[in-house]
Amino acid sequence: MNPKQVLQQYDLRTTNCQLSIGVLASGHLCLLYFGRKLPVQTDLRSVIEDLPKASYLADTDGISDFRLEQLPLMYPAFGTPDLRAPAIRVRDDSGSPIINLKFNEKRLVAGKPALPGLPATHVAGEVKTWEFDLVDSVTGLTVTLVISTFVDYDIFTQSVRVKNTATTPLRLDEAQSLSLDLLSVRFDLVTLNGAWSRENHIQRTQLRPGVQGIDSKRGASGHGQNPFVALATPDTDWQHGEIYSANLIYSGNFVATATVDMHQNTRLQVGINPFEFEWKLSPGQSFSTPEVVFSYADKGFNQMSQRYHRFYLDCLLPKQFAKQSRPILINNWEATYFDFNRQKLLALAKQASELGIELFVLDDGWFGKRDDDSSSLGDWVANETKLGGSLSALATDIQALGLQFGLWVEPEMVSPNSDLYRQHPDWVMSDSRHRPQLARRQYVLDLSQSVVQDYLIKTIDQLLTENSIDYLKWDMNRNITDAYSHGLAVDQQGEVYHRYLLGLYHVLGTITTRHPQVLIESCAGGGGRFDAGMLAYTPQIWTSDDTDAYERLQIQRGTALIYPPVTMGSHVSAVPNHQVGRMIDLATRGAVAEQGNLGYELDLLTLTTTEKQQIQRQVTTYKAYRETLQFGRYTVLPVDEANEWAWSKVGYGFVIVDHITILARPNTVPKRLKVVGLTPTKQYQDVRTQRCYSGAFLMSVGLVIDRQNCDFASQRWIFKELH
Ligand code: DGJ
Repeated sequence: MNPKQVLQQYDLRTTNCQLSIGVLASGHLCLLYFGRKLPVQTDLRSVIEDLPKASYLADTDGISDFRLEQLPLMYPAFGTPDLRAPAIRVRDDSGSPIINLKFNEKRLVAGKPALPGLPATHVAGEVKTWEFDLVDSVTGLTVTLVISTFVDYDIFTQSVRVKNTATTPLRLDEAQSLSLDLLSVRFDLVTLNGAWSRENHIQRTQLRPGVQGIDSKRGASGHGQNPFVALATPDTDWQHGEIYSANLIYSGNFVATATVDMHQNTRLQVGINPFEFEWKLSPGQSFSTPEVVFSYADKGFNQMSQRYHRFYLDCLLPKQFAKQSRPILINNWEATYFDFNRQKLLALAKQASELGIELFVLDDGWFGKRDDDSSSLGDWVANETKLGGSLSALATDIQALGLQFGLWVEPEMVSPNSDLYRQHPDWVMSDSRHRPQLARRQYVLDLSQSVVQDYLIKTIDQLLTENSIDYLKWDMNRNITDAYSHGLAVDQQGEVYHRYLLGLYHVLGTITTRHPQVLIESCAGGGGRFDAGMLAYTPQIWTSDDTDAYERLQIQRGTALIYPPVTMGSHVSAVPNHQVGRMIDLATRGAVAEQGNLGYELDLLTLTTTEKQQIQRQVTTYKAYRETLQFGRYTVLPVDEANEWAWSKVGYGFVIVDHITILARPNTVPKRLKVVGLTPTKQYQDVRTQRCYSGAFLMSVGLVIDRQNCDFASQRWIFKELH
């Protein structure tokens, strides 16, 4: 027998892409091809069969010269002669870590099975799911690759189910959600990195031999690295180039690596971080990995981003909000911080209402004895002295001004100085032997415990039932230290990080099912948990605590590389900016905030009449073009990226183009900005000048960029699509 012979080829096809999987005579499952769709039934067997033999590698299954380490495997297991990074590691009760997964059977079903306990995408359009069972005949381990094709979206998803079918326990030490072996190293690694207040900056580096990648060990996806990774061919820009990308639907510890091996292949892996992870699998029990979304694009970053945006709006966000226009909000945080009273809040709300703003959000400081961050998290009882009455009365008064009412909460946390902590010190993450570590003067509640989950559900449910609340800001202001749970057995402490996430998803799932009309914006000190896991419950996320428009340009460009612009909470704030002291004109602050989901976060009562008029105009314009701005197709436009930013939103009858020049320069000759992605034969009318242009003109000749005489100047064009 030729072990490399491909006995079966399965083509998983979307409108434009194809993932082909082969079953070898040896029983191993290989990736034959991932890329542009090929003519039907293109024979791909030669991809494996033609691979020449490399030296100094182990033989497989006693067959000389059959080297698994050279093959593009679909789900490499530790224990085989493939000594590259495994996707799965298991130990049985003999202590042996050796497994050898062989194909057993495949099933093809219409639609997509549920992924209990974890956030997952839902079906839209034509969806098929392929399940490939791999079995280790010695331990009785069954691994099922559950791969769904979203045909109309050119998107694939995968989750991996690991089942112990033996009669003795197994310990799962690692199970990646995706492992993709690409037979090339001509890639740049693209990731989103940063820190608090400068999240999701795009990083691009050429691949080199060895392991490179990103991860989180923070108990949350984190400010530092987003659970997104892409491999782009070196020529890739916004319009051109091939990109393989993956985004994990998970909000906790993750890892995403690209490993360049000795034979110039790249293994891309994404999944739960195996650091401090182990999972006990008793006989009959299963473990499912988080779902990963992955795609291939051949027309640059814009095509990749647009595919994710469309897919997430249709298949990830809570259905009732996915295409629902979002209200323009005013948040009192940067206007007052903790220092407010009823009079101040109502004055702010009244002014907001007069300017046309639609939702008032009461941020931190309304409960317990919280006048700074030193106390009261956990005691979710309104401070009626500070609010000048009940929370319910305040909500009613604000709603009487024609605004919706929104409230800030931080349910996952507790202050040491709180009644909740005094009653339940064992509800915090801690081993009781070491003093638990504080961050922002607070502890993390142990959401892996069902008693804590039940308490949170009851408390938030009560808040939402007893008060008329339209919107909730769900904050989370520190990461997990002291990862030990009083609710778990000694041999299950390696489960605590993942169980925290399962607990959080259970709480969010229950609250959103009971109160489906409440719009939730999540937040983690800004974008410290901006991920697809949270978006499955909370259709918008506060992008960053940095509200400076220039900083936001970079943060939002990175965030929108993958997440739909409407999911990015984005506010106009005061100048000098509170984080960086920068002065940027109100028009530009507005344009940048309108790139996402518009809000205001400044003391409206201190503005000049001219500024108020300007805000009123911004709000009116935003409402007039809200669908285009919130749900239009977002495209990054090619400019001199050293000094300029430009983007467009297209759809719902309009084209809106924004351009920003960072530093003004003297004696320059104005250049033109070419629009991208219009219909060449269509006519577009400038709503200001009434002039008509063909799509071909706008795309090939372009718009005139004015010479700017101040820094951070912005220019906007709005076109009506004619015929
Ligand atoms: C961090 C958030 O990102 C801010 O917007 C604000 O809500 C504060 N927390 C309140 O403590």
